[in-house]
Amino acid sequence: MKALVLAGGSGTRLRPITHTSAKQLVPVANKPVLYYALESLAQAGITEVGIVVGDTHAEIESAVGDGSQFGLSVTYLRQEAPLGLAHAVMTAREYLGGDDFVMYLGDNFIVGGIEDLVSRFREERPAAQIMLTKVAEPEQFGVAELDVDGRVVGLEEKPAVPKSDLALVGVYLFTPAVHEAVGELKPSWRGELEITDAIQWLLDRGHRVESTIISGYWKDTGNVTDMLEVNRLVLESLEPEVAGSVDSTSQLIGRVVVEPGAVVRGSRIVGPVVIGSGSEVSASYIGPYTSIARDCRISNSEIEYSIVLPRASISGVRRIEASLIGHDVEVTPAPHTPRAHRLVLGDHSKVQISS
Ligand code: TTP
Repeated sequence: MKALVLAGGSGTRLRPITHTSAKQLVPVANKPVLYYALESLAQAGITEVGIVVGDTHAEIESAVGDGSQFGLSVTYLRQEAPLGLAHAVMTAREYLGGDDFVMYLGDNFIVGGIEDLVSRFREERPAAQIMLTKVAEPEQFGVAELDVDGRVVGLEEKPAVPKSDLALVGVYLFTPAVHEAVGELKPSWRGELEITDAIQWLLDRGHRVESTIISGYWKDTGNVTDMLEVNRLVLESLEPEVAGSVDSTSQLIGRVVVEPGAVVRGSRIVGPVVIGSGSEVSASYIGPYTSIARDCRISNSEIEYSIVLPRASISGVRRIEASLIGHDVEVTPAPHTPRAHRLVLGDHSKVQISS
């Protein structure tokens, strides 16, 4: 059995971060979200992994390499454009050959692993096996309709009027029967080849499609709110460790990780918080559920419930909350007069100003 990990896409919901980098590499507790997916595949005993990549292929390839750091053997599959999840399967047709496979969306985050799901699939080998979870706003997801016995009878992608509140989680298992379905698809209203349509095609032709309703935690980290929420969840189980240097005028409260080479001076850090290697925090407050990546500079500032990407610098800013701050970003106070905001923002940036 192989795995197909989808790490292409356009990432419009995470702009401007995705103008310059891959959303699958945004760190959750200072580790790229994609690594969690690769770890759970390795844990489920899968070693051959094809990663579908798009414009951000170089960055993904340099972060994952040949996969040996995860105990995996990785092959990169270039998708010419983000034409849909089923199109990604088509791109991987040759790589997948006649093997069963698990398809894992590289920006999805699932707590509890996929071992049980994979072993159930290996025993029963339905044409497709999907995972479902109850969501509050099903119209934003692929939605499954079940009959009274819990069998899948229909699927719809982002329906205006959902037939249930059961959304498809971003992990699917398939036998090679899916390739025929994918080959028959026409683009949807949004111009993509939809994996939900491929599964519907299998259902319509009498193939067996099984589902499991998961109660564990699942999030698609495709937008900032969910990314911050996943970061919060992972930080909740952080093991405190101070490998960097913390001076005597600083206070660390709760679960705080100070990575090697990080420096904390005259600051109050209330965990769970992780401060990346090479970062410097001085005369600042870092509040709960904050991940500061490597080589950042935070001085005379307050920040909480946020993710800060490598090499960002924040000085003299009170206070930042619920924010995702990109690579090499600089946030500084404006001169006292005139009282004005001075902004140099990339395309599609989002700024909320509190004055
Ligand atoms: P999505 O988040 O559904 O799509 P997207 O990346 O285009 O993002 P947005 O909706 O914000 O524009 O994709 C789920 C995962 O699958 C994600 O890791 C990207 C990947 N993907 C591909 O590899 N190829 C594709 O053609 C598509 C649509 C997504």
